[in-house]
Amino acid sequence: MMEFKYFEKSPELYEEGFDYRKINQQVSFLDKLFSKYKSEEILDVACGHTPQGRKLAKKGYNVSGIDLSESLLKLGKQRAKEEGVKIKLYKKDMRKFNLGKFDAAYIMFSSILHLFKKKDLLSHFKSVNSNLKKNGLYVIDLSDLPFDSPFKSTTFKKRKKDIRTIITYKPLNRKNLTANFTCTSFFKDKKVNEDSFTVLMFISLTLLKELTKKTGFEILDIYSDFKFNKKLNPKKPEYIAVLRKT
Ligand SMILES: C[S@@+](CC[C@H](N)C(=O)[O-])C[C@H]1O[C@@H](n2cnc3c(N)ncnc32)[C@H](O)[C@@H]1O
Repeated sequence: MMEFKYFEKSPELYEEGFDYRKINQQVSFLDKLFSKYKSEEILDVACGHTPQGRKLAKKGYNVSGIDLSESLLKLGKQRAKEEGVKIKLYKKDMRKFNLGKFDAAYIMFSSILHLFKKKDLLSHFKSVNSNLKKNGLYVIDLSDLPFDSPFKSTTFKKRKKDIRTIITYKPLNRKNLTANFTCTSFFKDKKVNEDSFTVLMFISLTLLKELTKKTGFEILDIYSDFKFNKKLNPKKPEYIAVLRKT
């Protein structure tokens, strides 16, 4: 299995550095959706330290999570223990895995863009599909892309107490829509971690349609945010897709 280095030395830096996200709003969105479709067995794909999964488990869902980063999985397990929450976390590659049959799966924080090759995306969609029960849901969060234009470099900085996080986004190849994403963390102004990845810039709705059609999904709904708004921003390919296994 491929090794994936992601905040390996200090997963707490990821937890702190990215805590600006509205996790409660995301969880409330997922909760409403899963209640509506009577989903109980849930899979958190590319879960990291599973900030959403632990909250869903607290609400009574039976949550499992998969990720390739051992350090983030370890932190997720530690946090679950501290919070008295039961959750099952596994080291698995989201491109191909076999864990069981779930009512619903979700992938947050644009993590699907780590799959920058079409063959990996296809294999991922197929794998999620085969781990879902009939009519199972797959929620793909692509609502928080780190740029105004995918073809322009950009840098943004976050600071929380002694932790400073600098994220740089650089387009690599316009044709195959790849970009470089580098995340550097500083503690008390000392550089303590840096991860750099090739990512896909975005998934157009055209590509989403193609992927779903080829892998046994239908598009149920497309939202622009976690408040169930449907008006998409025409300038930015951001959305939350709710798919259903056909
Ligand atoms: C942006 S983080 C999101 C983590 C978490 N879902 C959250 O909302 O904070 C992306 C995650 O994708 C994971 N990842 C990247 N490629 C992966 C793969 N092929 N299989 C499983 N996990 C992967 C990374 O280890 C990392 O935890």
